[in-house]
This record gives sequence, structure tokens and C-alpha cells, in this order.
Amino acid sequence: MIDLTDRDFIENPYPALKELRSFGKPVWHQDLGIFLAATYKDANAVLRNRSLGRIFQEKQPNNQWETFNWLHSDSILDSEPPKHTRLRSLVMKAFNPKKIEEMRPIVERISNELLAEIEGKLNQDGSFDLIADFAEPLPVKVIAAMLGFPDQDEHLLRPWSQAIVKMYEVAPSLQDQEAAQIASEEFAAYVHGLMVLRKKNPGTDLISDLAAVEEDGQKLNAHELIATCVLLLNAGHEASVNGFGNGFAAALNIESQMETLRSKPRESAATAVDEFLRFDSPLHLFERTATSDTEIGGVEIKTGQKIAALLGSANRDESIFDNADELDLMRDPNPHIGFGAGIHFCIGAPLARMEMTTSLPLLMERFPNLKLAEEPVRRPTFVLRGYESVMVTS
Ligand code: HEM
Repeated sequence: MIDLTDRDFIENPYPALKELRSFGKPVWHQDLGIFLAATYKDANAVLRNRSLGRIFQEKQPNNQWETFNWLHSDSILDSEPPKHTRLRSLVMKAFNPKKIEEMRPIVERISNELLAEIEGKLNQDGSFDLIADFAEPLPVKVIAAMLGFPDQDEHLLRPWSQAIVKMYEVAPSLQDQEAAQIASEEFAAYVHGLMVLRKKNPGTDLISDLAAVEEDGQKLNAHELIATCVLLLNAGHEASVNGFGNGFAAALNIESQMETLRSKPRESAATAVDEFLRFDSPLHLFERTATSDTEIGGVEIKTGQKIAALLGSANRDESIFDNADELDLMRDPNPHIGFGAGIHFCIGAPLARMEMTTSLPLLMERFPNLKLAEEPVRRPTFVLRGYESVMVTS
């Protein structure tokens, strides 16, 4: 059975995932104790099946995990109805289309500032790092601005977030676990401080809006509010960094696709971004637990058993996508499930799409002749799939 932590697998998981799909049904992974749903039909069914829940398993109930535990159990992502319905509905009131549209000029400004900065600090050979200099700071700055996170503290955000999301990988080390505990404490305490300030002095930021939202006399309590802010800050950039980096790195290998981006940067942006997310998805695996006996793809999943939807595999399913292993930046329709499906479908999808479709043409217009300067360096993780760096020459 495939080893999801193997370096060669992580480098290019697609041949092994194709083999997994060839079984045509979920496959039991003995070592991990979980079914893997690799086809589009099965992965989609897992995400939509209401007998399969996102059940957060609390870590050892000792003091060290306490904050980590409630940051998850009080967040939308790790709760199920009726709590999920209440939280999602309250959060959607603040995180609404108008709020996202208001961010468009800010995304343009931040993109242009980053591109100007890149121009001013190019290496001698004209190279820069697409990840560290553009794909990463952009969504971090955007979500930080949206939540009213102070500029001078922005540098704290990515390390906290990365320490916490390492816990989603298949086998986090003891060191990673300790780092996640510390990051949870510090991040929660910091957001708590912001929340107290905003409750006293509301602004136009999302934290102030979230503190004010109310439905049927219900509001977010303090833990729910902090957990939501931490989730938005984390989810609001982790996948976007990698989605942009993975897709753009793939395009850089294919001259005809770069020509599409170069010759019609604005017209191709919408289909290109969705193809980025399909072709080399930034989030590969989401787990569910059966709350009652159910069935996926003809396989019985018993109460308490786990099953994972393999999104990146589903998005390469040749029964759904023509030439699934080919990057086609004009692909349309593109029913990928990179943003999930069902009740946990990504709340941030409109923001992520707006951010990427705004920034991609600006990058192409400023640097139309980008080329890979060296082989990009992969991060050693499967669940959150991305690059450490993608060095390009301008
Ligand atoms: C390219 C970027 C992104 C990708 C690929 C992505 C992907 C996903 C996926 C697959 C899920 C569902 C997880 C599951 O079913 O277990 C999800 C949920 C979520 N995402 Fe995103 N996301 C992205 C960007 C964002 C952004 C920008 C935000 C917020 C600012 C965000 C906030 C959320 C939240 C709050 C949830 C939980 C929704 C719920 O449980 O009801 N995401 N995302």
C-alpha cells in the first residue's frame, strides 16, 4: 500500500494515485487505519455523505493541548450540524460577497507593491522566488488586512499557521506537536487581545464584524470568535500560497501554456486559476468518520471507521476530465473539487478566486518572460502540497 510520507511519492504522487483509482472503490489502508477514496465519484460522495462527519478527535486532555483542542472543536471546519450550521451562518454574515468585493482594489494594490518590490531587489541574474516574494506574502497580507491584523505583526502569522497545520500531516513528529501547541497558545492569546480591542473600539475589519454578527439572538462566543479568526487567518492563506505556486510552476514547464498566460493574461485568468487548483491541488486529503454505518462506492463503512477523500486524485480522474494529466489553462468546464464539496465547501473560494485571478495577470503583465531558474523545491508534505521555493528568472 502506498506510503504517503515517502519522498518519491510526495515528489510525484500522481502515478500511485492513478493506480489507487484503478481499484474503482475505496481501498483500506492497513497502516493508517483508514479507507482512501481516490476516484472523483467516491471522493465527492465522501464529502457529501451526511453519515460521514468531520469529527475532531481531541488530543490527550492535558493542559498543553487545551487551546489547540478548542481552536478546532469551536471552529466551523471541525464541527458538524447543528453547531456547524449555526457557526457557518454567523460567519457568512460577516464574510459576505460585499466584503470580498471590497478587497479587490486592496488585492491590486498589494500585488503591485509586491511586484515593484521584486523589481527593486532582483538577484544579479534577474531571478526571484515566486513563493517567498509573491505567492506567499500576497494572501497573507490580504487576509491580515481583511481581519485588521496589524501590519507590524504580520510576520507572526505564517510561522503560527505553519506550526498548526503540520498537525494535519500523516505523522507529525513530537517536535512538530510541541510547536503546534505553543503556536496555538500564542496565536489564540494574540487574537484574544485583538478581539478585546475591537469589541471596545469597532472598526471596518472582519474581527469587528464577527464580534457584532447576530442571528436569532445568537452570537459567536469568545472561543468561537477566536477559533474563527485563527481558522480564517490560516485557511485564508495556506492553500492559496500552494495553489498558486503549484499551478504556476507546472505552467512554467510548458511553453504553450505560458504563451496563453502571456498573450491573454486577463482573459485566461479565470480558467487558469481553476486549472491550477485541479492539476496540482494544494490540499490532497480530508478525513471523515462514520457516525452511522454507510456505504461509499459499494464498500461498507462501519460506524467509527474513517475514510479520506483524496481531492488531488479526484481532480486527475480521467473519467471526468479529458486528458486529466495535462495542464490546460483554458479548460472549461472544470468541475474540480479542490475547494471541497457538501456542507464544508470552502467559504473562502470566492476570495481565493478573486485574489488569484487579480494577481496572476498583474504578474504576467509585469514579467511576461518568466522562466524556471532551477528545479523548484518541494515541501516534504502530502496533505498540504506545495513548494518551498520556485526560483524564476524575469
Ligand atoms: C486556493 C485556496 C483554497 C483552497 C484550495 C481551499 C480549500 C478548502 C477545502 C477543500 C475545504 C473543505 C475541507 C473539508 O471538506 O474538510 C475548505 C474549507 C474552508 N476554507 Fe478554504 N480553501 C482555499 C482558500 C480559503 C480562503 C482564502 C479562506 C478564507 C479566507 C478559506 C476558508 C475556509 C473555511 C473557513 C473553511 C471551512 C468551511 C466549513 O467547514 O464549513 N479557504 N477550503
